Amino acid sequence: MAMSAKERKLSRLGSCKGGAASGSGGGLGSPASRGHRAAAGAPPPRRVFAALFAFLCAGVVVLGGVHVIGASFRPVLRTAWPSETLKAISSDAGTQQAGSGADTVLPSVHVRHAVALPDRVLLILKDGSSLPAPERFECLYSPANSSELRRQPLLAASLPDGPSLVHCPAEPSGVDVSLSLSLSPLVVPLPWDRLVYTALVDSRDNSTVVFAKGMNLRPGRLGVASRYQCVFGRDLSKPKHVLTSPVISAAQEVFRCVTPLRIRRYLRMSTDANGNGDSDDGNGDSDDKPMLVSIRTKGQRDSTLPSIAEPEPLPRYNRHRGQKAHSMCVCTMLRNQARFLREWIIYHSHIGVDRWFIYDNNSDDDIEQVLSTMDSSRYNVTRHLWPWMKSQEAGFAHCALRARKSCEWVGFIDIDEFLHFPGNQTLPDVLRNYKNRPRIGELRTACHSFGPSGRTKIPKKGVTTSYTCRLAAPERHKSIIRPDALNPSLINVVHHFHLKEGVKYVNIGQGVMLINHYKYQVWEVFKDKFSGRVATYVADWQDEENVGSRDRAPGLGTKPVEPEDWPRRFCEVYDTGLKDFVHKTFTDPDTGSLPW
Ligand SMILES: *[C@@H]1O[C@H](CO)[C@@H](O)[C@H](O)[C@H]1NC(C)=O
Ligand SMILES: *[C@@H]1O[C@H](CO)[C@@H](O)[C@H](O)[C@H]1NC(C)=O
Ligand SMILES: *[C@@H]1O[C@H](CO)[C@@H](O)[C@H](O)[C@H]1NC(C)=O
Ligand SMILES: *[C@@H]1O[C@H](CO)[C@@H](O)[C@H](O)[C@H]1NC(C)=O
Ligand SMILES: *[C@@H]1O[C@H](CO)[C@@H](O)[C@H](O)[C@H]1NC(C)=O
Repeated sequence: MAMSAKERKLSRLGSCKGGAASGSGGGLGSPASRGHRAAAGAPPPRRVFAALFAFLCAGVVVLGGVHVIGASFRPVLRTAWPSETLKAISSDAGTQQAGSGADTVLPSVHVRHAVALPDRVLLILKDGSSLPAPERFECLYSPANSSELRRQPLLAASLPDGPSLVHCPAEPSGVDVSLSLSLSPLVVPLPWDRLVYTALVDSRDNSTVVFAKGMNLRPGRLGVASRYQCVFGRDLSKPKHVLTSPVISAAQEVFRCVTPLRIRRYLRMSTDANGNGDSDDGNGDSDDKPMLVSIRTKGQRDSTLPSIAEPEPLPRYNRHRGQKAHSMCVCTMLRNQARFLREWIIYHSHIGVDRWFIYDNNSDDDIEQVLSTMDSSRYNVTRHLWPWMKSQEAGFAHCALRARKSCEWVGFIDIDEFLHFPGNQTLPDVLRNYKNRPRIGELRTACHSFGPSGRTKIPKKGVTTSYTCRLAAPERHKSIIRPDALNPSLINVVHHFHLKEGVKYVNIGQGVMLINHYKYQVWEVFKDKFSGRVATYVADWQDEENVGSRDRAPGLGTKPVEPEDWPRRFCEVYDTGLKDFVHKTFTDPDTGSLPW
């Protein structure tokens, strides 16, 4: 493809001057992958050759690393790294790995960024990286100004639909990290609380939506957009090599910026180039530093937030081009709630939900395994990793954007909430009523909070058939929104989005649609729930300061100790409406069992 002069300039934007960086990129891509092929199942002499080859490549990477991380070079690495790699290669050379077609000795793993969360260090792998056997990797740490190289087993590796993450144990600041076997240079972890962590490019209005920690905008309000600027480039610390653009809206953690024309061209070019997925095309370009976007406060020096956000294009879409793929989708954020997933998905599939976007906040239960039991041709579920601290609102905004192209309506409900239709109408009936009323952008649904209903053990038959006693009055409400009707600022607070001007919400009658919220389950379930509150603006239930907030269990105090009468609490009326429906609909007539 012919490159215009502008594009060439852009591709140089902020990239390391001179040939060194791109040279090392090319060196990593092709010879290393040739190395794999030579090594796979090769007889011993060729294996030695392959190891030697990999050694040479590793050397190139380490030297390239000097450029890439731009930090001071620590001579120790030159010796420590290749020998580390070499040792691993020689001991593993016989082991064939499952995965990507070609058998590989050196997995195609490349650590691109690291972020220090309070309890772990996240390593973000380059797109297309795969960890064929996570247990063979170790986290490596090198304290600054020291020749020491420490190693620890990794905590978890997640390989869902998006970029892959590796979780390493937390380390004191000033320690650089990498992964064994990865041929990646050391990476300096960035603090999570001042960070641009992700960005989506919205072709509908040629804007880029940037998700950022550390600007401390007030909840639920528009900030002053003119105070900020977006910056794009490969090295944001070099003012000459970045492009800036105006911010259109700033609210909470979400900034919407104009996407500069050159960035749009660049993205179009790079998506065209990788059009058919992330096959290992081995051309050096993919090993260049990625294009990043960040936010800068105007008029202050050095005020650009550190960034790991590579602008990611949303699927292109034209509102007026026919019907969307799904009439009803659901966005949810969860952590370690895998055991509730099957019931929640199977139930909602039956009532008319056709697509689930699951934002997973560092689950370490068996969520992958549970999802793999769900027939993917029947249940269209994707899991998106959302490891960011206290950013539920931003996650919902992110999800709403991703769902916009394919979903007419999106429900924002939690995994302990079940839409329930007590009357004659079904979900499709309700949605049909609003189909031709684009000025209605949100359907609000009252929630009934269910109590432990006398139970003391986690019910095996699921929640809908087991909890049947609840508070009499509904507590708050949840919403189903039309993603096309959202306010461009994407402001949302406690599951409620601001809508576009002129668009309104309606309350759906309680005789038509309700949410059964299994909020106060048996103590064993409940005790985990409020300790890791996901919302940004709601305090942890153990903070003394927020006693009396509506988000706490009334009368619970601040200690996670089971009150003696817990099983009988929150029980004012018996309500078996959903239980009866579920029994009637899902019970297998032969075995009497439910499908979850
Ligand atoms: C490492 O050394 C450099 C210069 O020798 C110094 O400026 C820096 O503070 C040192 N870092 C640590 C963490 O000791
Ligand atoms: C986005 O930019 C393209 C030119 O690159 C232009 O044709 C299009 O009309 C713009 N779209 C909007 C919504 O501004
Ligand atoms: C799932 O939904 C997406 C759109 O949201 C669609 O592109 C994809 O083909 C669907 N997958 C299946 C298996 O139906
Ligand atoms: C439900 O539908 C039936 C007939 O379709 C009707 O007779 C009945 O009144 C309806 N009930 C409610 C609550 O709307
Ligand atoms: C994810 O869970 C942790 C608790 O381990 C919590 O501190 C964090 O705020 C959660 N993330 C989101 C997005 O709420």
